[in-house]
Amino acid sequence: SRTAAVIPAAGRGVRLGPGAPKALRALSGTPMLVHAVRAMAASRAVSLVVVVAPPDGAAEVRNLLDAHPLADRDSTRTDVVVVPGGATRQESVRLGLAALPADVTAVLVHDAARPLVPVDTVDAVAAAVREGAPAVVPALPLADTVKQVEPRTGERAGEPEPVVGTPERALLRAVQTPQGFDRAVLVEAHEKVAVEGEGATDDAGLVERLGVQVVVVPGHEEAFKVTRPLDLVLAEAVLARRRA
Ligand code: C5P
Repeated sequence: SRTAAVIPAAGRGVRLGPGAPKALRALSGTPMLVHAVRAMAASRAVSLVVVVAPPDGAAEVRNLLDAHPLADRDSTRTDVVVVPGGATRQESVRLGLAALPADVTAVLVHDAARPLVPVDTVDAVAAAVREGAPAVVPALPLADTVKQVEPRTGERAGEPEPVVGTPERALLRAVQTPQGFDRAVLVEAHEKVAVEGEGATDDAGLVERLGVQVVVVPGHEEAFKVTRPLDLVLAEAVLARRRA
């Protein structure tokens, strides 16, 4: 029985501004995806990484990974496989799961867009799954209060949006990745649960809809998602601090 990591990296990164697919953009000179693969391979629990590339970019991603070898870790090698992704994150994860060999029993799903997750967080998620939890997510309390609104779209886009509620902040968590799963549970969730529109933004959400208990372990500030231009500034600063 082995633990594998699936890294969806097929997003275009529209919110980051114009340019290459998000995962291929550089952080301190190294593509974000390479940082993310190294973060997974740094965990001794992970023996295989499946990277889900943009649908037309699998060859480019393969070349990129071959040009940026993983740092040695106890001289044990982590295999890295590349498969083409889909139109939504959910579809990309499903395609990554389909590429897993039979002996993989636990899966970590990790956003390429969270390149700086510390290995301790990866290890904690993997350990909780190996100890029997079917679904584990790293998460942090929120700094901001969150409002639910009635979105204004179409002709009314841009109008002030009415607030319909304020969930109690102390009960909320911002979830990160890697999210860890029993393989069979995650595969069943992706087969059975359909989500309209953009699809599921998080794998644990699919598992919840199956009625399987998901649990939270502490996340880490450095596991933040690189989404907007300011996040690139923060990521570069974290890398500079690590090198200091
Ligand atoms: O868009 P978002 O920030 O939620 O994307 C999270 C992760 O899902 C990113 O690593 C992105 O590359 C990936 N993704 C994907 N396939 C898509 C859309 C997003 O693999 N079609």
